[in-house]
Amino acid sequence: MHQLTINRNDPIPIYLQIYQRFCDAVHSGSVCPGDRVPSSRSLASELSVARGTVEEAYALLTAEGYMVRDGQRGSIISKQLINLPNHQLKQSELQKEPRMQADVTVGNIVPFQLGHPALDVFPRKLWSRITSSEARKFCDIDLKYPAPTGYYPLKENIARYLALSRGVHTSPHNIVVTYGYQGALDLVIQLILRAGDKVWLEEPGYFGTQEAILRSCARAIPVRVDKHGLSVEEGIVKAGNARLAIVSPSHHSPTNVTMSLPRRIALLAWAAKRRAWIIEDDYDGEFHYTGKLLPALKSLDTQDRVLYVGSFSKTLFPSLRLGYLVVPDDLIEKAQTIVNYRDRGVATFQQKVVAQFMEDGHFFRHLKRMRTTYERRRTILTNSLNEVFSDQLNIPHHEGGMNLLAYLPAHIKDRQLVALAAKSNIAINALSATFLQETEQNALIFGFTNVQEKNCDKLCQQLGKALRPIFKK
Ligand SMILES: Cc1ncc(COP(=O)(O)O)c(C=O)c1O
Repeated sequence: MHQLTINRNDPIPIYLQIYQRFCDAVHSGSVCPGDRVPSSRSLASELSVARGTVEEAYALLTAEGYMVRDGQRGSIISKQLINLPNHQLKQSELQKEPRMQADVTVGNIVPFQLGHPALDVFPRKLWSRITSSEARKFCDIDLKYPAPTGYYPLKENIARYLALSRGVHTSPHNIVVTYGYQGALDLVIQLILRAGDKVWLEEPGYFGTQEAILRSCARAIPVRVDKHGLSVEEGIVKAGNARLAIVSPSHHSPTNVTMSLPRRIALLAWAAKRRAWIIEDDYDGEFHYTGKLLPALKSLDTQDRVLYVGSFSKTLFPSLRLGYLVVPDDLIEKAQTIVNYRDRGVATFQQKVVAQFMEDGHFFRHLKRMRTTYERRRTILTNSLNEVFSDQLNIPHHEGGMNLLAYLPAHIKDRQLVALAAKSNIAINALSATFLQETEQNALIFGFTNVQEKNCDKLCQQLGKALRPIFKK
């Protein structure tokens, strides 16, 4: 905490000013849970005020839970404040411009919008048939509180799917069904992070991960992603003692880079050596189009340091809010306790429908169909963009993912283009906005999953028209 100052001309009593300065320091992150508080005697002498004035402020801070006694050694900032917003990454290091895209999650899908699977190929009739059939079987168990870690038959199906499709061999007992990836991430934060712990975040990265860590009381450590994935070397130099690394090895979000095998091995070796944890965000691991579907990082994890997260948001649809976390043996009991006291688990009925959908073999068929649809849509979009923008966009080829990136000529800024496109109701995104820190990298991000073949040329022409004022300069 910077030197604490008071204003003797302020009508606010001095003890309240001291109280307020501490509160501000906690909320801005300039002091952290667990930090030692100066003794009332030394602070009183530093501020030239009576000791009783400081004691009055400390009593208020203690009563409100900001401060706690730490035995003979004085007081500390309460370690319970772990859910306060985090500003550990210095504000001066964060990007000045807002990073988050405008909320396009409500209403219809806008052209090129990210984050949604192809809604037109979802088997709606089949889904409603299974839903009705499950509703007819409604019994007492469906009305009770759900099982905290998830509906067991769904967990069995997930375990079977993970073994077959992702090379992850786990027992249903190690699976916790969550409110999507975001719910799993939140659970891991509560499960393993303590105030001030360092967390490696991919830079650039997914805003859902970035925001969750920035709002926790851990310290975000951005670690560069290059063409082999997260640079483990840079992570070790910046914070070898980090407690957690969060990665998307199958297809990095948003660049689609697949983490190379040497990097996977280096990351696992670091975690094993430092007793650190890794979250593997495998939200789109299924959508790999060239070569073989790669097994998950978790499949190489002999030391049980990886907390694997999957989500039904991309493989089925995001309004389900269903995901799953594979929890190592050591942590499963604690995870169960946290869920029990936090939200008591996920609604049973939707889990039953998904379990039946998987049990009947529809899940695999649906994934197969989506893979071929996406591969086709991605090729068609790449060709249309190249045609409309001649060779001004550089669109690298990646083996998978649900979006594509188009790098721009050096003089063009991605956010300018995004703002122009938005005026024509086109929802492209800026690569630069996915960095926590300032960057020179500029590219447009296109979601292609919902761009139907018949509309693609027309949409690209509309985009070309919308962006002409900048490309013409
Ligand atoms: C990188 C990444 N991880 C995970 C998810 C899935 O999040 P959720 O399961 O909370 O919908 C997304 C969704 O867009 C994502 O982009």
